[in-house]
Amino acid sequence: MHALNELSAGDKPRAYAELEASLSALLRGEPDFVACAANTAALLYWSLPELNWAGFYLLEPRSGELVLGPFQGRPACVRIAIGKGVCGTAAARRETVIVTDVHAFPGHIACDSASNSEVVVPVLDGDLLLGVLDLDSPVPGRFEEADARGLEALVRVFVAATRATRTCQPLARDR
Ligand code: SME
Repeated sequence: MHALNELSAGDKPRAYAELEASLSALLRGEPDFVACAANTAALLYWSLPELNWAGFYLLEPRSGELVLGPFQGRPACVRIAIGKGVCGTAAARRETVIVTDVHAFPGHIACDSASNSEVVVPVLDGDLLLGVLDLDSPVPGRFEEADARGLEALVRVFVAATRATRTCQPLARDR
């Protein structure tokens, strides 16, 4: 794995493609949603440089809120309303939000005072919003378009790997 902070934006797609191959191998054969989300967060946190938090907020259909899911980093706020903070904004817009300076983002929710920049990628299966993937960095301007595109590809791998399990979850709850 290349150190992504040492790469120019032009080299990042290749480095993210390597990470995508690692994630596919890590998730292969195991569709359990929590296990895959936990390992995805851990792989990102330990592979990508200059992060202080990486993890998921998952949509709770009953309340319509994002609820803290598997992550690596310091303990974080548990519930985020759609439309609030960076996570809720990405969920509402259903598009990736890059924040170069979190202190300049209106309504940013500060979970770790070390965070200075952030990227949030919606986790979508077609039209279905499952939650968001959130990465925080102590480095201002840590994330750029090349990171957003690479992370979106990683989220697609995660969504495909866990599709079978997610289909079964509502049945299990209704029994
Ligand atoms: N900063 C986020 C909250 C989650 S923490 O970064 C882990 C936001 O504004 O939505």
